[in-house]
Amino acid sequence: MTETTPDPIAIAAPEITEAEEQAVLRVLRSGRLAQGPEVAAFEKSFGALQRAPHVVATSNGTTAIHTALHILGVGAGDEVLVPAFTFAASGNAVIATGATPVFVDIADHWLIDLDDAAAKMTDRTKAIMPVHLYGLMVDMGAAQAFADSHGISIVEDAAQAHLARRDGRWAGTTGVGAFSFYATKNAMTGEGGVVTTTSEDLADAARRFRNHGMTSRYTHVEWGLNLRMTELQAAIGVEQLKRLEQWTNRRRANASFFDASLPELFESPTVPDGAYHVYHQYTVTVPPGLRDGLLEGLRDRGIGADVYYPTPVPLQPAFGGPEASDRFPNAVAASKTIINLPVHPQLSDSDLDRIVTAATEATHLFS
Ligand SMILES: Cc1ncc(COP(=O)(O)O)c(C=O)c1O
Repeated sequence: MTETTPDPIAIAAPEITEAEEQAVLRVLRSGRLAQGPEVAAFEKSFGALQRAPHVVATSNGTTAIHTALHILGVGAGDEVLVPAFTFAASGNAVIATGATPVFVDIADHWLIDLDDAAAKMTDRTKAIMPVHLYGLMVDMGAAQAFADSHGISIVEDAAQAHLARRDGRWAGTTGVGAFSFYATKNAMTGEGGVVTTTSEDLADAARRFRNHGMTSRYTHVEWGLNLRMTELQAAIGVEQLKRLEQWTNRRRANASFFDASLPELFESPTVPDGAYHVYHQYTVTVPPGLRDGLLEGLRDRGIGADVYYPTPVPLQPAFGGPEASDRFPNAVAASKTIINLPVHPQLSDSDLDRIVTAATEATHLFS
């Protein structure tokens, strides 16, 4: 590489402005750092944006999923249907409740396969966890019909799906939703999460669970944990949420640019009719034998391309290992054929051009 090589383009780049800096300073100077009015303001703002009647902030997305499962009564002896192609947190949160994740293969758009889910139902299945992977929502009308017909609950893992909607449903408003505000998410608080629900009773249960089962000072009506968000996190989040719609528009515009400009070997993601994709990730499909070479070609050219996820969760040592691969053919195929490209709102027009040029040059390595 010569000294004129431009800086690498990162796969994620949180925007932190003076507004976030001032917000954090304000909280530090207030002396109130643990859950308080900033958390309440953050919950209110997110509820308005996500059309979620009740929002309960937590320490991170994993604890939000854990809380969602807990308030639906998922616990020891229960099973929860979880897609094989997701971040391990989806499965780990089930284990945290004492229940067992039962992994399900994926279908189109890398989303949970409801036919495989039906095949994996047992009399212990208590819930299904559609994951709105990469910012594209699962068809929640179909997921709800599935859950209703089997008498089970829904937890939506919406960690990657801020502002996503499909067929008039907003992410996190069909089942109990769980969003992440981890540092690389579409809006972030460093670490952070929220639970969303349309039920006031479930929201109250979530508020108790995140705060040791307390209803008032030192009155513990049930057991709970400390899963609270700090005022520092929430103050950052309030500022981030002011720009979330604008960032999402930018992500979608960047994705449209890639759809129109990437070389043929990079198959663009398709979006089902009626879905508003928020492009937490822009995910292309490439021929399996070429994936690693193309990825290297991109990285050699300073593009922070990545693979989410290189190993389906049930094939991880913690969840069964490689011998499970025959049971999840679509998840395994996805893990070998996808590349995630930077799509975040901080990309300049010249960054977008650089990504397309790098992709084009990388394909020339194979033709
Ligand atoms: C699909 C998915 N589920 C769950 C999580 C967990 O969120 P967190 O990292 O905030 O605990 C993440 C994010 O990391 C995620 O991408």
